[in-house]
Amino acid sequence: MKGVILAGGKGTRLYPLTKVTNKHLLPVGREPMIFNPIKQLVSASITEILVVTSTEHMGDVVNLLGSGKSFGVDFTYKVQEEAQGIAHALLLAEDFAKGERVVVVLGDNIAVKSIKPYVDSFRRQEKGARTLLKEVSKPTEFGIAALDEEKIVSVEEKPGNPKSNYAVIGYYMYDEKVFDLIRQQKPSERGEFEITDVLNEYIKRSELEYDILPGDWTDAGTFESLSVANEILNQCQNEIL
Ligand code: DAU
Repeated sequence: MKGVILAGGKGTRLYPLTKVTNKHLLPVGREPMIFNPIKQLVSASITEILVVTSTEHMGDVVNLLGSGKSFGVDFTYKVQEEAQGIAHALLLAEDFAKGERVVVVLGDNIAVKSIKPYVDSFRRQEKGARTLLKEVSKPTEFGIAALDEEKIVSVEEKPGNPKSNYAVIGYYMYDEKVFDLIRQQKPSERGEFEITDVLNEYIKRSELEYDILPGDWTDAGTFESLSVANEILNQCQNEIL
């Protein structure tokens, strides 16, 4: 199983902090934001990791992360020339994956509990995809899952009328057909290839499983959430550090 960290995008909600640098290089606690996603993958024994980022910031990202030796991993890098969405960035990982399953982490997601138990469940899962959910107070700002007793029945990106308070957070596990599914996708109304549409394709096939991530979690893409991310990593004994 291989790891993919998506660290492209424009970071516009954090401007001017992101005027000359990449969002994922900003400090959170005592480290650059991207360290937390890397440590999550390492905690799940994933050591071959692709980092996708934008053209402007690839140099800085490579300067910071290097070969991966200091983390005990091997990094590969790929440029996303235009921020056309999370699924678009993931499609760049197809050659790297070489037919293996992938664990995808959004570069601005910060969590203190390891994803290892859920990655291990995915290792035992025969096929399909697996994702992690978290209860949130502002469901209009996330991809939101509608749930029945056992399964996710649909996922909606930033819904006006959310069907639950459970957000699909930035840890996604996919089998090898994910790239074919993305290729068949069309851009959304906001012009992005949406990760929620990929999840809905797995739901159609009854192949999406989920777990609820315990412990503190936030994304760090806005001033408010970046401040929460700092609090979380400054105050907690971080299990994955
Ligand atoms: O944090 C969880 C949420 O992340 C999910 O609930 C949503 O379903 C998902 O769409 C995403 O929402 P955001 O609005 O927070 O996505 P954002 O545009 O901030 O992108 C998240 C990360 O993905 C970001 O750290 C960089 C990466 N990314 C994003 C885009 C649009 C790329 O690598 N390339 C891209 O083109």
